[in-house]
Amino acid sequence: MSNPTAPADAAQLKDIVAHAKEYGFVFQSSEIYDGLAAVYDYGPNGVELKNNLKRLWWEAMTQLHDNVVGLDAAIFMDPRTWEASGHVAGFNDPLIDNLDSKKRYRADVLLEEKAAEYEKAGDPARGAALTAEMGRLLTANDLAGVRQLIINEDILCPVSGTGKWTEVRQFNLMFSTQGSAVDSDAPPVYLRPETAQGIFVNFLNVQKSARQKIPFGIAQIGKAFRNEIVARQFIFRMREFEQMEMQFFVRPGTEGAWYDTWKAARRRFHEAVGLSPAKLRFHDHDKLAHYAKAAVDIEYEFPFGFKEIEGIHSRGDFDLTQHQTLSRKKQQYFDADIDPGTGKAYGNYIPFVVETSVGADRLFLATLCEAFAEETITEGEGEAQQTKTRTFLKLHPALAPIKAAIFPLVRKDGMPEKAQQIFDDLRFDFRVTVEEKDAIGKRYTRQDLIGTPFCIVVDGQTLEDDTVTVRDRDTRAQTRMPISALRAYIAEAVSFRRIFEKL
Ligand code: GAP
Repeated sequence: MSNPTAPADAAQLKDIVAHAKEYGFVFQSSEIYDGLAAVYDYGPNGVELKNNLKRLWWEAMTQLHDNVVGLDAAIFMDPRTWEASGHVAGFNDPLIDNLDSKKRYRADVLLEEKAAEYEKAGDPARGAALTAEMGRLLTANDLAGVRQLIINEDILCPVSGTGKWTEVRQFNLMFSTQGSAVDSDAPPVYLRPETAQGIFVNFLNVQKSARQKIPFGIAQIGKAFRNEIVARQFIFRMREFEQMEMQFFVRPGTEGAWYDTWKAARRRFHEAVGLSPAKLRFHDHDKLAHYAKAAVDIEYEFPFGFKEIEGIHSRGDFDLTQHQTLSRKKQQYFDADIDPGTGKAYGNYIPFVVETSVGADRLFLATLCEAFAEETITEGEGEAQQTKTRTFLKLHPALAPIKAAIFPLVRKDGMPEKAQQIFDDLRFDFRVTVEEKDAIGKRYTRQDLIGTPFCIVVDGQTLEDDTVTVRDRDTRAQTRMPISALRAYIAEAVSFRRIFEKL
């Protein structure tokens, strides 16, 4: 009997966090010093899963589109970049303190949580009205109004239980450090809060060197840093995280159609990776960022509710125009195509930009939550029959940290040597492992817990006819096949191709 279930509530996030630590996926940063808040390290299995996700995104962008090319820009940039981008003046979160508990909160998060409460209690209209009012006040930078809304909604501090709130203040999220060792008056350099600006300042370098014509995109994966006030929910909101961003440069007037195209394409990506369609939804922004003309989030239903994993933004010509103004370097593109309306070339213009921006860590967490499965199974026969709960990671085989584990049934009769031979051959193509210790059932369990799709068993028959059994992680069914067929069998299952075909 099999009854796989996905965790459905916040309590189960605890299980996932514990699992991530126990099986080498995610550790708290500097844990031996009690940990640094909102900073995490990826363990041996975590780094493999994360690298697979990043490689999948990278290839889906740069390999499947001949008009999307890559870039790896530095984290540090000329500080004027962040003046031009609006981050120095406008990259703020509204924060509020509770006078009794001395705890600090994001005012918008308090209100969003209240709106979610209304929704959960069956009054989505009231929740939507509250979110809309918050959006209006924040857009108008009416911080006193935001505070009043918190008071009117009777929102209390979860720690002290009181409603004694300070004023709402804006808090800039950028980290900065000393830029020059010799000039103490030199302006600080910032740790980039988004990777996008490295793409904008290189727009012409890339366009010319890669001989790209509009429309074309530049993709980048890299670290970003934000001094988040509310750092909760595990790796969902971190101070140091990784973004996978693509800026798509288009002719002005075509941005609406490209926005719709990328919005649909990015949702397909998340479904192809294995996230349930029912757990994905679009959410239009209530408050647009300073650069955006239109913006939508792709949200995933985590155990703590629907939350953003990716943003798709129509940024107009905001960024390139700003960089042109501050750097005094032209950021124009010459479009030689003929405008059918005028019969002349489109000529010089600053392109418009449609951005797709997904957090590698959030995609990792969504993938882990989706994969974490528990099922009730019955083992053994007759009197020895027993029912137990099996926990396993139902990861897409292309994402699994280890693709196959090879087990000699016993540690004698030449079985370990045969297992080693199979390992020595398969390791040229896949990340595989050999396990000899413990009973076979325990070894299956260990691999299930890290999501290994196949367990290959070398037994007595192997020594006679060079066949092995291959046990499937999800169905637990065993198939006997020749050793010579293993490579093609695994390759078919773990290939990115099966994901790409769905895009
Ligand atoms: N360049 C546009 C931009 O940075 P954003 O919506 O602020 O837009 C894009 O961020 C994505 O980066 C988010 O959808 C999320 O996946 C990820 N992200 C943002 N802040 C994060 C944080 N503190 N921790 C983890 N991921 C974060």
